[in-house]
Amino acid sequence: MSYLTNRFGRRRALQLGIAAAGSAFGASTGLLAQTASGGEILTRAIPSSGEHLPLVGVGTARRYDVNPSNAGAVAPLRETIQNVPVLGGKLVDTAPSYGNAETVLGNIFEELDIRSQLFLSSKVRKEGLADARAEIEQSFQKLKTDTIDLLYVHNLVGVEEVLPYLRDLKAEGRIRYYGISTSFERQHADFEKVLAREELDFIQVDYAIDNRVSDNRIIPMAADRGIAVQANLPFGRGRVFEAFGDSPIPDWAAEYDITTWAQFALKWIVANPAVNSAMPGTAKLAYLEDNLGASRGRLPDEAARSRMASLIDSA
Ligand SMILES: NC(=O)c1ccc[n+]([C@@H]2O[C@H](COP(=O)([O-])OP(=O)(O)OC[C@H]3O[C@@H](n4cnc5c(N)ncnc54)[C@H](OP(=O)(O)O)[C@@H]3O)[C@@H](O)[C@H]2O)c1
Repeated sequence: MSYLTNRFGRRRALQLGIAAAGSAFGASTGLLAQTASGGEILTRAIPSSGEHLPLVGVGTARRYDVNPSNAGAVAPLRETIQNVPVLGGKLVDTAPSYGNAETVLGNIFEELDIRSQLFLSSKVRKEGLADARAEIEQSFQKLKTDTIDLLYVHNLVGVEEVLPYLRDLKAEGRIRYYGISTSFERQHADFEKVLAREELDFIQVDYAIDNRVSDNRIIPMAADRGIAVQANLPFGRGRVFEAFGDSPIPDWAAEYDITTWAQFALKWIVANPAVNSAMPGTAKLAYLEDNLGASRGRLPDEAARSRMASLIDSA
């Protein structure tokens, strides 16, 4: 019997879109990566390609906007990125609007020769096509890469003009996937319109245990249309930790292999089978180890997710 049939039961694992390599329902539908920590990383398929990605990634907003020449400021970021593949992770998300983040990442990729082990997403946020193209070229240069795995139109800026261009870049092989991103509820109505009419590989949207608005329409629409969902602001920029405060994690969370509030918040997100991955802001190794822990072990079922959400609603 496979790891997953042991831990989830075959039916639950299939519902979650995850499976063990080489298992009875295995290699074609998924794999689990053995990691240096001895755990196994759960992955989920991108609907448009079948490529599997780990359930938790690394966001680089704000904390990676440091002076690239400041060795002390870069050191914890380098250590974090270096350990992403070591710990079984892969996803790194950035954007030109995150200040020096792309430059800092590009330097780290080159120095560690690590780029090929990562799934890199960035964004473009320019109104006119000429400016958008220039920003994208700068991203390639700053990130010191020939390929960006996933490129988003950031906050719908210039979406009408820029999406067709992203399609061209994908056809040329310079990017592998494209989509749209937002983190503003006030943009959700416009976001839904683009989601309803465009062929997209991914969307990235705000989604957290205390911010469930995307459950109403956006995430179900993406699931219906076969579009992968990345959750941004999974901790609400730290709001979730403030809500839980010093309270102890409930004993029943151990049933889902949850040992920290970060894992509690992330497992609530990634247990939704329509979500491909969650992208917590992760700028130090201890957070990386903690957050990737939410990519391992048992995931809560719907009843448990409701119980988890009730806990933060009453906090
Ligand atoms: N429109 C868009 O496309 C958009 C918008 C916003 C964000 N994003 C993406 O989403 C990512 C996440 O957003 P975010 O970083 O702003 O917010 P977040 O992930 O919701 O929260 C980050 C906060 O959580 C803390 N944290 C992280 N891991 C922790 C752990 N294991 N234990 C305790 N605290 C932990 C960090 O602490 P420290 O303060 O100590 O670092 C930081 O304050 C961004 O990095 C970006 O990639 C996209």
